[in-house]
Amino acid sequence: MTTAQLILLDHAVALLGVVSWFGAGIAAVLRRHQLGFGLLVAAVLVTLARVATVSVLAGRGWWFVAEKVLLGLPLLGVAGVAAVLIAGPRLWVARTAAGEDLPASCVVSLFTAAYAALAGLLVTFLAGYPLTWSTALITVSLVSAGSALTARVVARETQDEGSRVGTDRHAAFTRRRFVNAAVGAGVVGAGGTGVALLLRPIGSAVTGGGPAHSSSSHHAMSVADLRGFASPSAGGVRRRYVLTAKNATARLASGREIDAWTYNGQVPGPAITATEGDLIEVTLRNSDIEDGVTLHWHGYDVPCGEDGVPGLTQRPVTPGEEFVYRFRADQVGTYWYHTHEASDPGVRKGLYGTLVVTPRDGQPAGVGSGGRQQLDLTLPVHTFAGTVVVGDQDGRTAPTAAPGTEVRLRLINTDSDPHRLALAGTRFRVAAVDGRDLNHPEQVRDVSLRLPAGGRYDLMFVMPDTAVALVLDNDRDTGVLLRPDDDAEREPRIEDTSDWPELDLLRYGTPARAPFDPDTADRDFTLVLDRAAAMVDGRPAYAQAVNGLGHPSIPDLMVAEGDVVRFRVVNRSLETHPWHLHGHPVLILSRDGTVSSGSPLWVDTFEVRAGEVWEVAFKADNPGIWMNHCHNLPHAEQGMMLRVSYDGVTTPFGDAHASHG
Ligand code: C2O
Ligand code: CU
Repeated sequence: MTTAQLILLDHAVALLGVVSWFGAGIAAVLRRHQLGFGLLVAAVLVTLARVATVSVLAGRGWWFVAEKVLLGLPLLGVAGVAAVLIAGPRLWVARTAAGEDLPASCVVSLFTAAYAALAGLLVTFLAGYPLTWSTALITVSLVSAGSALTARVVARETQDEGSRVGTDRHAAFTRRRFVNAAVGAGVVGAGGTGVALLLRPIGSAVTGGGPAHSSSSHHAMSVADLRGFASPSAGGVRRRYVLTAKNATARLASGREIDAWTYNGQVPGPAITATEGDLIEVTLRNSDIEDGVTLHWHGYDVPCGEDGVPGLTQRPVTPGEEFVYRFRADQVGTYWYHTHEASDPGVRKGLYGTLVVTPRDGQPAGVGSGGRQQLDLTLPVHTFAGTVVVGDQDGRTAPTAAPGTEVRLRLINTDSDPHRLALAGTRFRVAAVDGRDLNHPEQVRDVSLRLPAGGRYDLMFVMPDTAVALVLDNDRDTGVLLRPDDDAEREPRIEDTSDWPELDLLRYGTPARAPFDPDTADRDFTLVLDRAAAMVDGRPAYAQAVNGLGHPSIPDLMVAEGDVVRFRVVNRSLETHPWHLHGHPVLILSRDGTVSSGSPLWVDTFEVRAGEVWEVAFKADNPGIWMNHCHNLPHAEQGMMLRVSYDGVTTPFGDAHASHG
């Protein structure tokens, strides 16, 4: 069973527990003692089942169960045992005599167990990992308060009944009132716990927990000074681009028009290309994007001051303003750029483009040449209002390639969700991932690939004399159809690729030594991802949280230049989180205990699916303050974003707008 399935099962069992404990309490009030006894037995069994699910889940990692083991189950255990001891025997005796009165303590103990069960569930959904003292105290107090309130109501009802020897009708009326009151106490208790947990982040915001700032530093360095080279390296040229951000109606190849936010009126923006060693100089102007724009070079390890993060490495470029980015194209491969200001909705609406740097010697790495013809296609994938667009084409692109041509497809996922890719009609290699060449990737066929949000794959093959189809998301009408020249007339049949297994890149290619030893890391961090009640940009929210907090309250990960940094990303939620680090490639160490055993895998985005635990490492060799966030951009906006901060580096741009996604 996957961890995600276990998490789901545990939620279901917990919910069933809440229902059966409340059911037992309500049945007792209604004097349906047979039913009450049955529900008590059910509640006990479900609670024991819960112990089992939590134990199995604990085997997947402490992060998945901490609050359940430390708070939820002990609280329910105590209340549940009390309920069994107090109410169990009475219900057993009264079972055959429906309508008989039970002592108030029975009803109160059953409801107290119900409140404890409910509180445990709420803590999991609203606070999660890590469990804090304030969460524990709030929870215990609220359960006690609920219990006391129930006791008062029960006492009053009993009194009322004692003072008037009522008719049956009167008794029924009283019971109804009582059930209403008890359920009311439950609702108030649950609401109170909810509100208290929602307010929890405000408490932690007040008591500190803001971004850690490196204390004293004798040689403080500002990100504003960490700028790129002003000249190309010897033999390189200066590549100048001007990108003007503006609202425009973009026309896709099909003729379909979309309201877009664009660079230079086109989607994607202009393709930026360079040869290794060139100087890339891009002037960004904002014509009329009111939210402001920047350019972030996704996956490209530029000097920090060129990284394009508003509120951190620069101010956002507002209408009428401009900003010039300059950096040397020392990194070969497939990358992309996008706005980092209002990145959701900015990127979704079209503020993105491609960045491809080819090697100085002119030979794409990975394939021997021998003077063969080459076809090099850069294919950003983007979804506009439900339609997948590849390059600037919606529907199927259809270029031709003579048999024997060396083909490189550079796929770039510019969406916030993953895409499934399949290449039908040929063997191929995954030559590069996130711009970095793999070590001796072998040929594969009839496999599918999952391209994470923000990620890139370079697929290479030699064109056969039959058609080759790149199929996206199992839709045979979306993607690229490559035909051999002489086959242009016929409509080739595309195979069904939907059941092809997913290629596991952690076992693909040939191992090689890493340039550093992750086992002797200088820093070790853990990021636990989940939904939680937390402050996001100064407002309480049901956040996409990291360690229970939302941006910008998540403490920075502090590193020093030269450190080997290891970090672990744990996904406690049921959603996928494509985790992205700026300024450095990370080396994948393991996924859910599966050690990376193929080619070293250097990526800037790795997809942490529900319930997964990934371990990665990087070398802190690019001083600055860098964003580390979920590349599902709405998640980033909802708080799932923090910073990796080098000792002694400061920013003059931090403001109310702090490093807004
Ligand atoms: Cu492509 Cu910070 O993002
Ligand atoms: Cu996410």
